[in-house]
Amino acid sequence: QTGMFTYDPGFLSTASCQSTITYIDGDKGELLYRGYPIEQLATQCDFLETCHLLLYGELPDAKGKEEFTRRVTMHTMVNEQMQFFLRGFRRDAHPMAVMTGLVGALSAFYHDSTDINNPEHREISAIRLIAKMPTLVAMAYKYAMGQPYIYPKNSLSYTGNFMRMMFATPCEEYEPNDVLVRAMDRIFILHADHEQNASTSTVRLCGSSGTNPFAAIAAGVACLWGPAHGGANEAALNMLHDIQRNGGVEKIGEFIKQVKDKNSGTKLMGFGHRVYKNYDPRAKLMQETCREVLAELGLENDPLFKLAMALEKIALEDEYFVSRKLYPNVDFYSGIVQRAIGIPVSLFTAIFALARTVGWIAQLNEMISDPEYKIGRPRQLYDGSTRRDVRPIAQR
Ligand code: SDX
Repeated sequence: QTGMFTYDPGFLSTASCQSTITYIDGDKGELLYRGYPIEQLATQCDFLETCHLLLYGELPDAKGKEEFTRRVTMHTMVNEQMQFFLRGFRRDAHPMAVMTGLVGALSAFYHDSTDINNPEHREISAIRLIAKMPTLVAMAYKYAMGQPYIYPKNSLSYTGNFMRMMFATPCEEYEPNDVLVRAMDRIFILHADHEQNASTSTVRLCGSSGTNPFAAIAAGVACLWGPAHGGANEAALNMLHDIQRNGGVEKIGEFIKQVKDKNSGTKLMGFGHRVYKNYDPRAKLMQETCREVLAELGLENDPLFKLAMALEKIALEDEYFVSRKLYPNVDFYSGIVQRAIGIPVSLFTAIFALARTVGWIAQLNEMISDPEYKIGRPRQLYDGSTRRDVRPIAQR
């Protein structure tokens, strides 16, 4: 309520654009990428096929997949100068601070793909960004660990290459575990796009000024970092650790009570969504992936997974959550899977950014390709002082 106007603080949630890429039915808990249900893509396709679908509107046939994979693979290395950007950071810098810097810095190297209004530049910058994000995320991880960077090995799959760059060292090769690589690939698919979420809207608004694609994607990385958005997976795992430290399953009731106390400011991280008022379909798939990975590693009794399942069960039966239509979202289980795969919690949101880059690019290119598009310029409801005159300081 603001004096003469009433408005929804989330008024940006009104339709901000028209799109053909991703469809969400929040009431049904349905998610489609270019018309394909996320359940089918996550179980029958891999991430590069999904990238092709989001970018060009169709799943590739075998020949098309081979060609797309070849093009991406040819761009997995980054300019050697990129190492010097990393050296400017403290070793304990948050990986999202590093990624925000590195992705923006890419625009300093690829002058043949910075003109967002040139379709060829858009095409090559899309391939470069998809190809280089795994390399950059792995470099951010190695830098934090104080280990040497591992260069891409292009005989490996996209996700197998990423896992090797993350976990191989000069002393020991990374022995890929197919279940873990497949789980990582599925996590990429589940995070690839999600309609006009905060970071995608940021990329669209930033790109609408005609800035280069790398800068627009860097803006998306910065927005995704927030705990209400992509940072929720890190916050959800830290929340589970806290509950575990304070008594675990037996103490869930106390935690739920704290969440219900508005003054506590405590949220059930990984729950609730601006659009889903039903179970986030990605959360179901993430839970299944969690089971598969934990079973593969002989961790079926992982206490955090058991705690998450118990927390979900209680929340889904509790009037506070039911009446507010709060269900698990993509971030509730993703942290447990990534932790089991060996990804450090500080890197979870960077992994989210790696996967969401293709969605950001697809949405940005869709906007820029529309000849009618103009620079975004949201308006406001002004409720400040009416016109008045400045008085000399002695009279203020
Ligand atoms: C992502 O937009 C996207 O698509 C994002 C994303 C993507 O793929 O890009 O899906 C990724 O960001 C998922 C969301 C991750 N964030 C979290 O898990 C953080 C915890 N969730 C909350 O911060 C919250 O649910 C939001 C921000 C996600 C949505 O907040 P809203 O719009 O306020 O939710 P709502 O309007 O449905 O809230 C209704 C009520 C409010 O209480 P009342 O004022 O009615 O008393 O539910 C409360 C909220 O305070 N509430 C929660 C809660 N989420 C909402 N209470 C406790 N725990 C929560 N998690």
